[in-house]
Amino acid sequence: MRTIIVTGGSGFIGSNFLQRFVLRQADVHFINVDKLTYAGNPMSLSAIENSENYSFEQVDICDSEAVTAVFQRYDPDCILHFAAESHVDRSIHAPRDFFTTNVGGTLNLLECCRAHWQGDSENFFHHVSTDEVYGSLPEDGYFTEATPYDPSSPYSASKASSDHLVRAYHRTYGLAIKLTNCSNNYGPYQFPEKLIPLMILNAVEGLPLPVYGNGKNVRDWLYVTDHCDAIWRIIQQGRVGETYNVGGDCEKTNIDVVRAICDGVATATDQEPSSLRDLIRFVPDRPGHDFRYAIDASKVQKELGWKPTESFESGLKKTVQWYLSNVDWIAKVRSGEYREWLKSNYEERNEG
Ligand code: NAD
Ligand code: TYD
Repeated sequence: MRTIIVTGGSGFIGSNFLQRFVLRQADVHFINVDKLTYAGNPMSLSAIENSENYSFEQVDICDSEAVTAVFQRYDPDCILHFAAESHVDRSIHAPRDFFTTNVGGTLNLLECCRAHWQGDSENFFHHVSTDEVYGSLPEDGYFTEATPYDPSSPYSASKASSDHLVRAYHRTYGLAIKLTNCSNNYGPYQFPEKLIPLMILNAVEGLPLPVYGNGKNVRDWLYVTDHCDAIWRIIQQGRVGETYNVGGDCEKTNIDVVRAICDGVATATDQEPSSLRDLIRFVPDRPGHDFRYAIDASKVQKELGWKPTESFESGLKKTVQWYLSNVDWIAKVRSGEYREWLKSNYEERNEG
């Protein structure tokens, strides 16, 4: 592996991935292709931006001419595809953007791979996807790689469509592909519209902590660098044409997560946990809210020896500390479009 195009490298998982592997893999040239939407932040990459084996191209993956030019310029061996619209609540408000980027953008990249590689089987497309494509689980059971797709939100429907396209390019054109479907990630550099960073920042500021429905919905949490390590291992050793489910074996109800955040923030800021727990508000449920996600990650564990290294307790402690220490980053991502969206979304829920 010599040259990897990483799409969406300025977002949450992409920036964690690049910070980790640009420094560790000096022999690999990483090219970050990112449009820099509200969710992409160049500050997340300041530690590596001057590295010799790192380049940045501000490009929309939906722009086929621009993507073709990037392929011609760098002649990549691998595409690692993170770029997406990624927030379920936004997809409920404005589904169209999700199909434009997540489906149209993925199709565009696949077409570029097909044209540029012309059947060269050494090169491959690694598609980063989510467990949300499988829909919702009841109290028991797990998602395996064989679970039928049953997406509930416009976000998960768009990701499901992109997964199908990636597999179709493998079957129809012989494009070499790998897929990962991962559970909920958390950690540094996550945009504060997702549950964990939003609750940390609201708790720090003494703002209400809006828990959807009764708070009993379950997510399977994975610390972001554990996800990045799984992806790297699959890029190196995973079988072409295969899908790997990646998860933390760490199921928590949302209310338990929010209470743990209150306690973590209280400890870090020398406050009474009860005063922060008093900020919890049960608000109207998300439409189509999936009840439970839980990943069976035994395939990647048995085949490639990957398993998570971070516990929820240690990962959450690091995450709380990171959000308390990185006020410049927070101020930057909270400016502009995001603030407007958060305000209207929050008012709408409270009116409901
Ligand atoms: P994110 O929203 O934090 O980052 C997305 C990045 O993609 C941003 O840098 C943004 O600027 C870029 N981008 C968006 N549209 C683009 C376009 N048209 N052209 C180029 N760049 C564009 O997302 P994330 O949480 O880092 O998720 C990354 C990937 O991992 C996504 O594909 C997501 O579906 C998947 N995933 C996320 C999670 C999670 O818990 N966050 C879990 C499983 C899978
Ligand atoms: P989120 O971080 O948006 O991830 P996803 O929807 O992709 O799982 O939400 C995680 C869970 O937290 C989900 O069940 C919805 C819930 N949630 C709240 O209860 N309140 C909030 O303000 C947010 C953003 C999410």
